Amino acid sequence: MTNFISLGSCTKEEITGLLNKADQLKYELKNGIEHKLLSGKSLGMIFSKSSTRTRVSFEVGMYQLGGNAMFLPSAELQLGRGEPVKDTARVLSRYLDAIMIRTYKHSEIEELARYATVPVINGLSDFAHPCQALGDLMTIREYKTSFKSLKVCFIGDGNNVANSLLAGCMKMGIAVSIACPKGHEPLKSVMETGKETGLLEVTNDPVLAAKEADVVYTDVWYSMGDEKSADARRVEFKNFQVNDSLLSVAKPDAIVLHCLPAHRGEEITDEVLEAHSEEIFNQTENRLHAQKAVLATLMLNH
Ligand code: CP
Ligand code: NVA
Repeated sequence: MTNFISLGSCTKEEITGLLNKADQLKYELKNGIEHKLLSGKSLGMIFSKSSTRTRVSFEVGMYQLGGNAMFLPSAELQLGRGEPVKDTARVLSRYLDAIMIRTYKHSEIEELARYATVPVINGLSDFAHPCQALGDLMTIREYKTSFKSLKVCFIGDGNNVANSLLAGCMKMGIAVSIACPKGHEPLKSVMETGKETGLLEVTNDPVLAAKEADVVYTDVWYSMGDEKSADARRVEFKNFQVNDSLLSVAKPDAIVLHCLPAHRGEEITDEVLEAHSEEIFNQTENRLHAQKAVLATLMLNH
């Protein structure tokens, strides 16, 4: 594994290796066992969009691994004044040991990876959020012990978070179901993997998707970049809410996950979020451990 850009391009074995490493790093952190695996290494973090979790967890993760992380808002780089991605990639590769990037266009990340000579990590694009999905898989395995015979459902927009969750789950052999309004289905590549594996159900009916589910997942109805269509989406998505009534059709021990930030009263009610806050904030924490596994794996193998 040279980069971490999408879960679809990782093998099942690679994902399992990352999850095992993440569990080990979490154990070491909780038990005060030092793990300065990346001493002397530097990570650059390019951000073209806002972030709380991704920025802080990557920065703290590098610190805990003995390395250093640099926050590089794209508007303050020459990149923001038009320096080409391919030049930025080659320049940063001369200073850094890895680059994490959060941006709009997925193709920009692919171009960065093509020209960089150090590992590139996707910290979210309009298409994918693999760091989130890795933390999600870690959380699901933690709560459900294994991936065997599980059903994961996603309610809402077939967005970056949904694409990566569905791709990651299918890679691990988990049956997935997504309920979304027509026209908001996941990426074509995810739909095709669904057809090949027979593991994906796509429906416009949230009740069908959530029926007997072990994990009920949702994310905002309008992502960063979609704000102009927020009002229209509030109407279009109004039946795609995770609330008590929808949860009543899931398994009684179903967990509820949300990548956060949440819009309470839209994709999830305040009551459901608070009732499942333990799971949701453990999920948030697991981003740290999962990303440390990615950083250590990529940088030590480079
Ligand atoms: N879930 C997630 O990626 O959060 P941030 O946008 O705060 O990084
Ligand atoms: N789908 C959301 C996720 C934020 C972490 C967005 O892209 O804005």
